[in-house]
Amino acid sequence: MFRRASALARFRLLSSAVNRQNSARLALSTNIPKGSSQTRGPVTFISLGLMIVAGGSIMFYYNLEKEKKTQKVASDVTSVGKAALGGVPWVLVDEDGYLRTDSDYKGKFALLYFGFTYCPDICPSELVKIGKIINGLEKDHSGLLKPVFISVDPNRDTVGQNRHYKQDFNHNIDYLTGTKDQVAVATKSYRVYFSKANEQENDEDDYLVDHSIVLYLISPDGEFLDFFTQRMTVKDVVGKIDKYMKDPKYAKSLKK
Ligand code: NI
Repeated sequence: MFRRASALARFRLLSSAVNRQNSARLALSTNIPKGSSQTRGPVTFISLGLMIVAGGSIMFYYNLEKEKKTQKVASDVTSVGKAALGGVPWVLVDEDGYLRTDSDYKGKFALLYFGFTYCPDICPSELVKIGKIINGLEKDHSGLLKPVFISVDPNRDTVGQNRHYKQDFNHNIDYLTGTKDQVAVATKSYRVYFSKANEQENDEDDYLVDHSIVLYLISPDGEFLDFFTQRMTVKDVVGKIDKYMKDPKYAKSLKK
């Protein structure tokens, strides 16, 4: 319960940091002096300075917006208060066509990732990272981590597509998909952000999906424990998962 609370607290910290940066940006833009034209010389330097500041804040704002989107999960959690992530039963189908529910992943630590197989770069690199995390835990905690990829693009991520995609990464990863509604149950439960981007007019199957890039660690009891962002290194993530795995309170729920 303590760990769970602290993970939620980190979500709140993340989101309040974003809010603080936002107010800093607003303060910056309103403090720009107006109509300072009497002194010619220094003005050039001042306006140059302002331009740099403005340029910087545009970039900053751009990055902030991007950050806000990918970490929407953070602000959503804050707005609902102490509500936990996960805990909602879901039913999906794996890459072999078998039904899978959240209960099937109890008895091990599950690592959930939400993405889409047509993702050009981020999902492949996150899946490679998951492979490295599995390898990093193999020595001390062999077979205790079950990674699960859940599609946010069920339209194209069919069972067949997922089975094909699985070949490219660590074979321990399960690939789940379902109907749009089934996927929505799982994504809402973890407050995953995703949205279709740059849809091509001439080809309705050619599009990208903007989505949050977060790994969720679930306890052998099915409770949300922690989340790991894209910025965290393999070493950091392995270190954190290792601590949970060493915690005796989860030992009784583990099925070896
Ligand atoms: Ni992706």
